[in-house]
Amino acid sequence: MFSVKTKIIFGRAEEEISDLNLNLKIKGNGLLCTRRSANFKFNGLNLYHLKISPEPCVDDIYKYFDKIRDLNFDYVLAIGGGSVLDAAKILSVMDKDRKVEGLIGMDKVKGRIKTLIAIPTTHGSGSEVTKYAVLKFQGLKQTVVSDFIVPDYALIDENLVMNQPAELTFYTSIDAFCHNIEAYLSKVSHPLTDLNCVNGMKFFFDGIDAAMENKISGRKKMLVCSVLGGIAITNIRTNLIHALSHVVGAEKEISHGLANALFLRGYLKFYKGDEKFKKLGKILNIDIIKRTDEIYEKYNTKQLCDFAAQSEIRHIAELTYENKRLLSIMKKEISKEEIERIVAEAM
Ligand SMILES: [Fe+2]
Repeated sequence: MFSVKTKIIFGRAEEEISDLNLNLKIKGNGLLCTRRSANFKFNGLNLYHLKISPEPCVDDIYKYFDKIRDLNFDYVLAIGGGSVLDAAKILSVMDKDRKVEGLIGMDKVKGRIKTLIAIPTTHGSGSEVTKYAVLKFQGLKQTVVSDFIVPDYALIDENLVMNQPAELTFYTSIDAFCHNIEAYLSKVSHPLTDLNCVNGMKFFFDGIDAAMENKISGRKKMLVCSVLGGIAITNIRTNLIHALSHVVGAEKEISHGLANALFLRGYLKFYKGDEKFKKLGKILNIDIIKRTDEIYEKYNTKQLCDFAAQSEIRHIAELTYENKRLLSIMKKEISKEEIERIVAEAM
């Protein structure tokens, strides 16, 4: 099955939100979730502003809910990076009887309560269209997975992703690329997910240099890559790169995009002789491994040895190998030794 549940709108955020309001798609009082003080001008909207902290944990969500439980708002408008959007997704399904920690895991959310509009200010997680929300709980990043937290509307405005620092731009873009390639090289892919992912990757290769130069055309391409990546992983799970990055991300202070970036090149080399991977190169009309190496040479600043010792290679590979949920859908089966080789190459 391939489905896109979110209505995706491209345009200026303030104008498009006013339009949704005028057309009665959203009405009543709104809860505006952002990282910083809001400086948006939304005509005719009655918004209560809630400031979201970076990487919120379960306790933060309870604190937010205490602030808003008596407000009687009708919709949630989230403007921010992945963690702001993720917190807003949880708040859109909260009521006084729900335990936040009880929502963690697969399909634990019992229903949607508020309309949710997501406006990304970074291009990577694709959270504006996904069924995932990451929360910190008991020191670990844990994921809520549910169709009920997929935003109703995603509003894509490239003006909001301008001027991101170079490192953030690079690693979030790589995350978006990984979503597309992992879903493409999956046992459970099908023609429509392939079409989606091939285009996502095309936008990545076409736009990464311009995005790194902070050109608006490049930013827009990375946003499209990110949206397509989000659609891809909502239809099909990620696999090896994310399995590795979950292990490394849980043990080291390391951002999600960077953790993925450590293993992308090893993953591509693992698929070097694969027919579908070769076909992808033909469709995109590039040598994917060579082009990725060039991009890394130009922009990548980190390797696994910046965060982990050689002695940890086996441990990382072993923990990753246990993640059968993700590894079982790899297009090409992988052994523990092959994973170990990919981890060693990331050093
Ligand atoms: Fe990701």
